[in-house]
Order: sequence, then C-alpha cells, then structure tokens
Amino acid sequence: MLTFKDHFAEAFISADEWKRMEPQLQTARDQLDEGTCPGADYTGWIDLPLTMDQGKREAIQGAADRIRENFDVLILVGIGGSYLGARAVIEALTHQFAALLPEGEREAPLILFAGHQISADYMRDLVQVTRGKRVALNVISKSGTTTEPALAFRILRQHLLGSIPDGQLADYVTVTTDPGKGALRELARRLDLPAFDIPDHVGGRFSVLTAVGLLPIAVAGIDIGQLLAGAGDERVRSLASLSGGWSPADRYAVARTLLNRKGFPLEILVSYEPFMRSFSEWWKQLFGESEGKDGRGIIPYSADFTTDLHSLGQMIQEGPRVFFETLVRYEKTRQDLVIPDQETDWDQLGYLAGKTMTYVNERASQATLLAHAAGGVPILELLLQERTAKAIGHLIYFFERACALSALMNGVNPFDQPGVEAYKRNMFALLGKPGFESLRAGLEG
Ligand code: PA5
Repeated sequence: MLTFKDHFAEAFISADEWKRMEPQLQTARDQLDEGTCPGADYTGWIDLPLTMDQGKREAIQGAADRIRENFDVLILVGIGGSYLGARAVIEALTHQFAALLPEGEREAPLILFAGHQISADYMRDLVQVTRGKRVALNVISKSGTTTEPALAFRILRQHLLGSIPDGQLADYVTVTTDPGKGALRELARRLDLPAFDIPDHVGGRFSVLTAVGLLPIAVAGIDIGQLLAGAGDERVRSLASLSGGWSPADRYAVARTLLNRKGFPLEILVSYEPFMRSFSEWWKQLFGESEGKDGRGIIPYSADFTTDLHSLGQMIQEGPRVFFETLVRYEKTRQDLVIPDQETDWDQLGYLAGKTMTYVNERASQATLLAHAAGGVPILELLLQERTAKAIGHLIYFFERACALSALMNGVNPFDQPGVEAYKRNMFALLGKPGFESLRAGLEG
C-alpha cells in the first residue's frame, strides 16, 4: 500500500487550512466521479483498473507473448502519453542495464524507443544497432497522425523492414490507436495489421493502463495483472474516501494546491533510485499537460538524488524559496549490497564496513530531508513498500487521480492540451504542409 505524509507539521499548512479545503475537494471529487467536470468525456481511466475486460487483457498478453517468443527487440514508436507511461514502468521494474546483458541472460526482448523526437542522429544509431536483429514495432498513436511517430515509423519500416512485403508486415508490426479513425487505423485496416484500441474516453497521458502501456510492458516481462491490481487498490481507496475521509491522493492534491497558493509555484519530484528517472518524466507530462493552462499550474520538475544534490542541491537549499519537494521512497530494495571491510582504511569508510548501500542511501535521504526542511522547503513523501508491479500500479493511479483533482481545484480542464497545437501548426506551415499556406506566409513575412 502507498503511504502519504507531509514533513512540515503545521509550518506550511495549518489544521484549519486543511479543513477549509474540504468543500473544494468534495466538489472536485464529485465532478470527477459523476462525470460532470470539464473534459468529462476523457474520464474513462477512472474505473479502468477495476473494469478491464479479461478477454482484452488476455489478448494483450497473447500479443506480448508472441513478440517475446519471436523477436530480439521491440521498438515502441510513440510520443507523449503514447510512450512515456510504458517507458516509466519498464525502466522502474526491469534490469537497469538490460541492453548490455548477453542475449542468453536477457529474459525479454530489448525495448527501445523511437518517434519521441525528430533527431536524425538518434534514428541512424537506432537503425545501426538493430539491423540484423529480429525487430518488431509497436506503433502507438491515438490520433494516428502525430508527426514524430509517423515519421519514425516510415523510416524504420524502410530501413529495418524494407525487404518485407506489405502482406507480411502483420508479423512484425502491431498498432495501438483509435478504434475507428486516423491514418494509423486506416493503415492497419489496409495491411491487416494486429491492432489494439485506445478507448475513446481515455486521453494520451492517462492511457498507460490501456493497451498503450500494457502491451510493451507485458513484452518486457512485467506482470500486467499485478500492475492493474495495484491501480485497482488505489481506485478502491478513492471510493472509500467518498464516504467521509480523505484518500492519500486527496491529501496530496490538497497539499500541493495549498502550497501553490502560498507562493510555491514549482514542485520537484525526487527519488533516490535511478530506475525512477523515466517515471519522473511520465509524472512531468501528466501534471504539466494537465495543469498548465490559463496562466495557472504548478511547474513540474524532477531530480535524482543523491546525484542532483551535487548540482541542483545548492539551488534547493539556498536559492529562491519557490520549490516544494515530493519524495518517492521505497521501504525495501530488491537486493542489497554489503559494504566490504578492508585491511587499510585509506578511503576512511571503515566506519561503514558491514553496513549496506541501502542503509547509506536512507541516511542520505533523511539528512537531505532535514536540511531542506530547515532551508524552508516543504516536503511531501510517498512511501511504497517494494519495487514491484503492484506498487507501481498504486503510484500510477495515485498520481492520475491527484492530478485530475488538483487541476479541477485550480479551475482548469485536466484532460485537454490546447497549447500543444501551437508548435504543430507552425511546424506544418514551415514544412509546407498543404493547407497551412497562409500561416506560413504570416510566419515568414
Ligand atoms: O497526453 C496527450 O494527449 C498527449 O501527450 C499525446 O499522448 C501525444 O501528443 C501523442 O499523441 P498521439 O497518441 O495522438 O500520437
């Protein structure tokens, strides 16, 4: 189970202030659960972990097993909500150096990523390292028309699958897209490619627990049943809270809303485990795209400690007092390492001999917490028991729910992203896409 706590007693938020937020929280919860909030058409993620059809899950697992048996590499082609969730979960739960393991020791195909930027060098390197290997593609795009993944798919198809006739592409390419519309759906129909649906009522950044995330996550050998079970637990907790108390996600949403109103515009998600780095990227997108509207929103930032204590640490400790920190911590590590005893104490670490790496990491976390608290940084903490699929499921649902509640309490629609279109329109115009001629003239004139 996930535990939430704040480390500032009443220094930043008084008991009275928590209490006064009750009606706003209640309104946000009601709007969300009754489907009356702005963007209510995209609240299909709310009950997904509890209601996902067994048949759908088995179909995803079946496709994943086929890829696991027949391929060395799966390239996930997607951007934003169509890739960040899968990457977050896979990197949080699998071997940190999977790419360097000898193939015999690797338990799953290597999962690589494309279509999340437009770098020619990245693409050339990707083609170089995968050429000659058995490569499958999972092309993921809800709209089916996003430039970055469409471009990557075109290039990978040419360079890696060029010799394969269209009629046999179905053995290599799986598509995840809108059930009915979009260029990708049309292509899947024409080439008879295996295709999974992204439900209409689930938006990109809330879609990790649909086929968008579940297929690549299952290919990586992660138990998707456990992931959904963890998310389902958090959904049940949110339901229980409706009859009175506050769930951990409620408390977190209210805490960050209040801190923001008290002059803290920036939240840093912190972990002491490097395997959480991509999870932080998912979190930044979830909150950034959901909350950053109408000149409002908490700016989501992330840091890897202790690494970043040697860079950002100074700024957090003594820079402008604009940050609050949300720490994600695990109670147990999967495997520990004992610090060896040595005859000579040249490195002056003799006092740690016999202790574990985790012991040191935990003391570092405690020390930082005390230092930052003394430096005037409000600190929130999320404690997970273990590094398991279930725990990550808890965390995903916790953040999704808290994000939606925070955005609603802040008066914005959590489920749209009108600002993302601005760069796309300009890019299309500058690239000479038909239909954008007058915008191009305006930009160039
Ligand atoms: O959260 C979102 O909706 C976005 O980040 C999308 O996921 C992203 O823009 C990719 O869109 P698509 O899946 O349509 O290619």
